[in-house]
Amino acid sequence: MSVRKHDDRKHYFFLSSEETQAFAADYATGIPTGSVIALIGDLGTGKTTFTQGFARGLGITEQVGSPTFKIVSEYEGNHLILYHVDCYRLKNGADFLNIGGETLLNPDNGITVIEWADIIEEILPAEAIVIHFNRIPGKADHRGIIIEEHGNEIIST
Ligand SMILES: Nc1ncnc2c1ncn2[C@@H]1O[C@H](COP(=O)(O)OP(=O)(O)OP(=O)(O)O)[C@@H](O)[C@H]1O
Ligand SMILES: [Mg+2]
Repeated sequence: MSVRKHDDRKHYFFLSSEETQAFAADYATGIPTGSVIALIGDLGTGKTTFTQGFARGLGITEQVGSPTFKIVSEYEGNHLILYHVDCYRLKNGADFLNIGGETLLNPDNGITVIEWADIIEEILPAEAIVIHFNRIPGKADHRGIIIEEHGNEIIST
């Protein structure tokens, strides 16, 4: 078996929340169980909006929200569970482990999506998919995202 380091950065640009969600729903269908997706970006850049579309793509009909008091929410999809984590009120990775976060970093029955993942950066798995969210100056409904995928790719067997 031959394995090559896989290091990929893709840029996308959306003109509305609906576009962001439609992309996220489609993107979700290609993400394997066990994945961790780290969302990084300032307040209101669209992390929760993206997660709502992502959940829809997994067949989740329940509304995904951003309750201020809850750090982890679980949603049951067609074939797996979506763990939606919001680290905004945490201080660091140790804080996350203290609330029992470790299993969420290796979700064998689901996918974990983490908002404000930069706060727990030191404990994120190396193979986590990282998505950066940005506003576009002067355009209220435009957003740019950059998806970074790291890992090993099997190129022959
Ligand atoms: N193209 C777009 N993509 C995503 N959200 C957009 C877009 N255009 C406008 N918005 C609006 O921007 C806001 C994004 O809020 P959202 O809660 O998703 O951000 P967030 O990054 O999760 O913020 P927080 O850091 O507070 O959790 C929503 O009101 C959404 O409707
Ligand atoms: Mg949010």
